[in-house]
Amino acid sequence: MGRSEFGDVANKGNVLNKQEAETLFNEWVKNPKLQLHMHQVAHLMKSWAAEKEGLNEAGQWNWELAGLLHDADWDQWPEQHCKKIIEYLEEKQVDPEIIHAIASHGPNHFGVVANSTMGKMLYAFDELSGLIHAYALMRPGGYEGMDIKGVKKRLKEKTFAAGVSREEIADACERAAVVLEDHIRFIISKQAAVSTLPL
Ligand SMILES: [Fe+2]
Repeated sequence: MGRSEFGDVANKGNVLNKQEAETLFNEWVKNPKLQLHMHQVAHLMKSWAAEKEGLNEAGQWNWELAGLLHDADWDQWPEQHCKKIIEYLEEKQVDPEIIHAIASHGPNHFGVVANSTMGKMLYAFDELSGLIHAYALMRPGGYEGMDIKGVKKRLKEKTFAAGVSREEIADACERAAVVLEDHIRFIISKQAAVSTLPL
């Protein structure tokens, strides 16, 4: 990314409202698989903000928004991934914490390290959420009865969801100071509610 400062502190507390976020999401993201992934990460972020951080509705929406938009530019502008959405949110004068969190969701790709719990959790949810969803798709019961052991087994199988970086999952858990098993349990319990796109 070539920089580490994002947004303007003067914009603290500014967010896109749900309608603005949905409009952007629908205009930019056409791929249903990516839409589902972004909804899943948004739901995990919101759930974490509510349950683990004890944030109120406004605080939860900040986290949800970061999850909802973190891959917004991946579908149509993969070569500008992360840069385009960040510039858009800066233009809209969105809270710098949200912009920084999005900028830091792939430190190995974008060279930006999270400076908030929001950013650390976004990174920690991103890849593991995808692997767990891939696992649900191959299980007859989906998320039903899925356990931590099964997920860990899939993590060890390098050919399963081969695009999911195991190194990044381990790195993200360490940076967020979450125990892998606890994190898997949290994702399974929350993600089941967002296993298909709303019709
Ligand atoms: Fe993602």
